[in-house]
Amino acid sequence: MISDSQIDKALSLEAINDLARNCTRCGLFKNATNSVPGDGNPQAEIVLIGEAPGEKEDQQGKPFVGAAGKFLTEMLEENGYKREDVYIANVVKHRPPANRDPLPQEVEACFPYLKKQIEIINPKVIVFLGRHSLNRFFPDMKISAAHGKAFRKEVEWLGKSQVFFALYHPAAALHNGSMRDVLKADFMKLPKLLKKINEETIATNTKENLN
Ligand code: URA
Repeated sequence: MISDSQIDKALSLEAINDLARNCTRCGLFKNATNSVPGDGNPQAEIVLIGEAPGEKEDQQGKPFVGAAGKFLTEMLEENGYKREDVYIANVVKHRPPANRDPLPQEVEACFPYLKKQIEIINPKVIVFLGRHSLNRFFPDMKISAAHGKAFRKEVEWLGKSQVFFALYHPAAALHNGSMRDVLKADFMKLPKLLKKINEETIATNTKENLN
């Protein structure tokens, strides 16, 4: 069984993802075809976190390659990003049977992988896709209230403050006209948010240099 410290000692995304591919920390691997650790740019400024792989993702070993993924790619491109610019991961790395919600113990067993992925990528912003990823980090927040909002929080295990941004899940919005409009409008805030974070970083660095 892969231990927390084995995951913590992984030095690259590839090393983490290899561990996830052989993971038996919960029962989900038993029914899965492939593990879906994550995909994208290891130096991404944006990490997007979904819930769990679906059928297509399980077949291909890549996140968000089904209908929800097509919609996500569309929104990324409409806002000036390619999929290769960002990193996409999920709260759990194996598909839950019949796409049921991941169980709390499955989410907990898988969390060390996500933590380590975030630590290595060190993104400017973490984007929650839906309530499952939002609630793994902030159990008391409601996606209906948090969507479209950015917030900066101190994260102990990262040893720094981190900017987060919450969105509705693309699968939930895909066939719901009004939610789809809200998600698209929220998504459009992302480039501006990133610009603001980068400007703040420059301002802080300049100040530090002057002192
Ligand atoms: N939904 C998710 O949350 N993740 C995927 O990878 C695909 C669909």
